[in-house]
Formats: sequence, C-alpha cells, structure tokens
Amino acid sequence: MVDLHCHILPGIDDGAQTIEDSIAMAEDAIQDGITCVVATPHASTEYHFDYGKVRAAREQLQSRLDGRLTIATGCDFHLNPENLLALKNDAAPFCINQKDYLLVEFNEFSIPPAMDQTLHELHLMGLRPIITHPERNGILRAQPERLLAWVRLGCYAQVTAGSLTGVFGSGAQEDAWTWIDQGLVHFVSSDGHNTARRPVKLRFAYEVVSRERGKELAEALLLENPKAALGGASLPYVPELRTSVERRRRKRFFFF
Ligand SMILES: [Fe+2]
Repeated sequence: MVDLHCHILPGIDDGAQTIEDSIAMAEDAIQDGITCVVATPHASTEYHFDYGKVRAAREQLQSRLDGRLTIATGCDFHLNPENLLALKNDAAPFCINQKDYLLVEFNEFSIPPAMDQTLHELHLMGLRPIITHPERNGILRAQPERLLAWVRLGCYAQVTAGSLTGVFGSGAQEDAWTWIDQGLVHFVSSDGHNTARRPVKLRFAYEVVSRERGKELAEALLLENPKAALGGASLPYVPELRTSVERRRRKRFFFF
C-alpha cells in the first residue's frame, strides 16, 4: 500500500518529534505492508513550510531505513494567502512527490465562499487538489454539497483510515462511508502523527473496505490511486457520482 498523507518527519510539525519517533512510525508502516509513504507536514500559519528543511529531514529518515520503506514528500497545504502566493511562485515543493497532486486541508472555523474560485485557480495552474479528510471537518459535514461541488470541479477527496472504523467518532465514520458510496472518495490515507492513537497504518482500513465493499475498491483507494498520484498520473479509479442520495442521519436530500 501507499500512504499519501502522514506526519512522519522529525521536528517539523505536530507529528514525529525526534528521529526515533520517525523510525518507530516507519517500522509500523513496514509491518503493516506499506511500501511508500508521502511525508506531508502541515503548511499553515502555525507551521511554516520550509522545503529545504523538509527534504533534509526526509534524507535523514530515508538513510535509516535500509531501503525497506520509501519516503517521498509533499505537504498538508492550508489555503491561506501567503501559502497561495508561494504556491503560485513554485508549486512543486508542495505537491505529492513534486508532481501535480496537492493535499488541501481546511480549518474547522470557516471556509470562505471564494474557495470555489481558489480551487478552480489551482486547476488552472495545472494542479490536482485532494481535499483531506472532509469527514473530520464540521463545516463540510454540515454542507456536503460544497464537497460535491469541488469534486464535480475535478478535485479529489481523501478520507482518514481511522475514520472508517470510528476512531474520529460515529458521525465522521458514517459520512466517510456515505461519501465512499456516493463516489466522492478517491483515497484512504493514515494521516499518521505518532505510534499511539494515530499510527501510520492502513491494513485495517484495507481489510474493512474489502469486507464491506469489495477487494477491488480497497485496492483502488489504498494502492492503485495513491500510486498513480505519487507518479503524477491520472487516477485509475474515478467513481461515478450518484445522482441523488438520501442522507438518512440528517433526514435531508442533496442533488447532483
Ligand atoms: Fe495531516
């Protein structure tokens, strides 16, 4: 499996703090059957993205793994004006494996209406935005039509592996599965931060998707699509969007 989203580099953000933390997380990944992880430190107002520092941390970690796990880099990109300016100047350092897929995260407090236009601009720049864990964002969970609009625009979505088994609550779990069934989800990643509550592990998610929705879908979400994004290629699995779906929990409908 290929993990597109984790915070495995030491001393960069709120993930691994030391090289020992990073190595322990890498050992988790190796044991789990992950062959490549993309280290995606936060790029936000809280955590400034310094590409030189990220690559140096990546080299340090890679050199300790004897080729048993490949570490690529990207970032968990927060769409603020300063970041956007840096992205327009040179996008590759922010992108997954320096190709054209970009993890985009939103905060819990507000997502301005102009975001639609901003995401459109990213497309015009030749980038392929991946919305990270929408099922853990209260705004998107309350307004799923916004996620839908972005996917229709050509964005992709990634859910967190733990969401599928309820690690982030039953609401996030329900929305993750609902959106998978509606064709809104293209990737499952660990978003691993440590070896305790948020490990770099995907096997359990592969197994639960296999059991609940079939092995083909598990392969698509946890291996084939992530591998394609890593290589900057088109995704082999882009599900059809369902035309109208009843949202049972909130007893309302949204239409495509
Ligand atoms: Fe993250």
